[in-house]
Amino acid sequence: MADQVLLLSLLATTFALAIAFEPSPLQDFCVADPASPARVNGQPCLDSKLANASHFSFKGIHVLGNTSNPQGSKVTPVTVVQIPGLNTLGISLARIDYAPWGVVPPHTHPRATEILTVLEGSLSVGFVTSNPNNQLISTVLQKGDVFVFPVGLVHFQRNIGNGNAVSLSALSSQNPGVITIANAVFGSKPAIDTDVLIKAFQVDKSIVSSLQTQF
Ligand SMILES: *[C@@H]1O[C@H](CO)[C@@H](O)[C@H](O)[C@H]1NC(C)=O
Ligand SMILES: *[C@@H]1O[C@H](CO)[C@@H](O)[C@H](O)[C@H]1NC(C)=O
Repeated sequence: MADQVLLLSLLATTFALAIAFEPSPLQDFCVADPASPARVNGQPCLDSKLANASHFSFKGIHVLGNTSNPQGSKVTPVTVVQIPGLNTLGISLARIDYAPWGVVPPHTHPRATEILTVLEGSLSVGFVTSNPNNQLISTVLQKGDVFVFPVGLVHFQRNIGNGNAVSLSALSSQNPGVITIANAVFGSKPAIDTDVLIKAFQVDKSIVSSLQTQF
């Protein structure tokens, strides 16, 4: 009986690991083939004999992003969309530019832990732990500092300087996904029923409607 329980819990752990993270590749690489009609978790592989360096490269991570937007920030992603050779490899990159006092608003990556390095400027960064504690873990980063946002947790960045700031993030998925909280909650199409948002945020209908028009 005890053996069976041990075996079951071992199997449960193994299975949980298998579904919680991107699986280890079963070949050298699997360059994403956008032309394939196959539907798989990830993307189907191009014939490896057709692969060349262009499938593994991206040019332009040095290019300044355009931060002329209400948030004052711009993300340049380098995921499997930009580098098809990242398919199945469980890793990607993003450059983030910040105008003075620019913000990357609270968001989560459902599939990736993020490790961020400040290349230029000073950032205030933080993430919030799950319910029920919702503890804010935050700090100020200077050029050369590194910070980690654990997978799935709501986090944000803010340039706290009068000059531009730049950071580079590595993420533990070929396709980390982004859910920006405000856009998802107030900008969904079709809109979430107002009554849900009134009770969730404990505010008047006029405030909910005003927030919905922002997105
Ligand atoms: C690499 O392969 C693609 C087709 O998948 C082709 O368009 C491109 O020209 C090739 N690049 C080189 C450098 O051979
Ligand atoms: C930056 O984005 C703004 C707003 O979309 C646009 O008006 C402006 O032309 C862009 N600047 C450059 C250099 O592309």
